[in-house]
Amino acid sequence: MRFDIITVLPGLLESPFAHSILQRAQKKGIAEIVVHNLRDYSANKHKTVDDYPYGGGSGMVMMIEPFAACIEKLKSERNYDEVIFMTPDGVTFNQQIANQLSVRENIIILCGHYKGIDQRVRDLYVTREISIGDYVLSGGELPAAVLVDAIVRLIPGVLSDETSALSDSFQGELLDAPVYTRPADWNGHKVPDILLSGNTPEIEKWRFEQSLERTKQRRPDLLSE
Ligand code: ADE
Repeated sequence: MRFDIITVLPGLLESPFAHSILQRAQKKGIAEIVVHNLRDYSANKHKTVDDYPYGGGSGMVMMIEPFAACIEKLKSERNYDEVIFMTPDGVTFNQQIANQLSVRENIIILCGHYKGIDQRVRDLYVTREISIGDYVLSGGELPAAVLVDAIVRLIPGVLSDETSALSDSFQGELLDAPVYTRPADWNGHKVPDILLSGNTPEIEKWRFEQSLERTKQRRPDLLSE
């Protein structure tokens, strides 16, 4: 699976994909993540990618030409299933959308900045607009990293224990049960006895009850359907 991310701040996306699971997925050849500097597609000598908004108002608007040039170039090289624009006014991202996107082949992701991007980019090229939550960040780079991380870990062969993505909170309807590791007693704070018992059916029952209780307390909306 290939991601092409278009941004004015490529440096912001150097680190998120260079560690742990995302790095391993790229080394195994399961995921390819390519970051493009939008300025390289600017037609003018100052490499500008934004301009004043028609009709007045504060803030700059990202221009259509550099986006069009970069997207057209990519599309001439391969077929893309999606062109996703990261924006706070998009559809709120969740596990179901991550699952859907994890079976795509090639995805372009556009990162916005300033006041926004020329509406014609959205009208002509974008197939989906995604928000990562009801808050406004400085740009779409961190949201793009969130999106790619959530998708890549779902691709078969990426996680060493393939069942572990399936048991994540949000894949089922319940949040995960609490987990513990050694020591069994830390300054008098003990691990629940049941987890030391070796009684697998009882441990499973305990985990289910804990999951249910945690979900009731924290996310009753997940149980209300
Ligand atoms: N760009 C700025 N804020 C954002 C958000 N919450 N989600 C996606 N893209 C964004």
